[in-house]
Amino acid sequence: MYSLILGKRHRGAYAHTPSTTLLDASGKSCPMNAMFADPSAMMAALKRSGQCTIASGEQDAPLVQAMLPGGPMAKEFTKDEVEVVRRWIKSGAPLIADQSEGASSEGNDVRINANAHFKFTL
Ligand code: HEM
Repeated sequence: MYSLILGKRHRGAYAHTPSTTLLDASGKSCPMNAMFADPSAMMAALKRSGQCTIASGEQDAPLVQAMLPGGPMAKEFTKDEVEVVRRWIKSGAPLIADQSEGASSEGNDVRINANAHFKFTL
C-alpha cells in the first residue's frame, strides 16, 4: 500500500479537490493532496477517516469503492492495484511501524548478510 501511494503521488497530489480531507494524527481535517508526501501518515489517516471500514451490507470499504468502475478513481487504478488496496484493508489495514496507532516495531529487525562479492553467469 505504501508503494502504491508513492507511485501515484505525482498525479494524486493534484487530483483531489481541496475539500477532500482526511483526519491527521491530531484529529484535524487535512487536505488529502498534501498527504501524498508521507505515505505512512496517509495510510493512518485513511484508516482514521473511515475510508478502510466496510459498512454492513457493503462488499468494500469506501476507498476501494471509489476505485471500482463507477467510482471517481476508476480510470486511475488497474485491477491488480485495486486488489492491493482490498487486501491491505481485508488484513486490517496494518500501518507502518513508525506510526503509533496499533503498529509495533517488534519483529521488524532485518539482518542482511551480504556476500562480499559474488559471481553470476547469464
Ligand atoms: C493511492 C493513491 C490514492 C488514494 C489513497 C486516494 C484516495 C481517495 C479518497 C479517500 C477519495 C474520497 C473518496 C470518497 O468519496 O469517500 C478520493 C477521491 C478522488 N480521487 Fe483519489 N486517491 C488516490 C489517487 C488518486 C489518483 C492518482 C487520482 C487521479 C489522478 C485520483 C482522483 C480522485 C478523484 C477525481 C476523486 C473524487 C474527487 C475528490 O474527492 O476530490 N485519486 N481519492
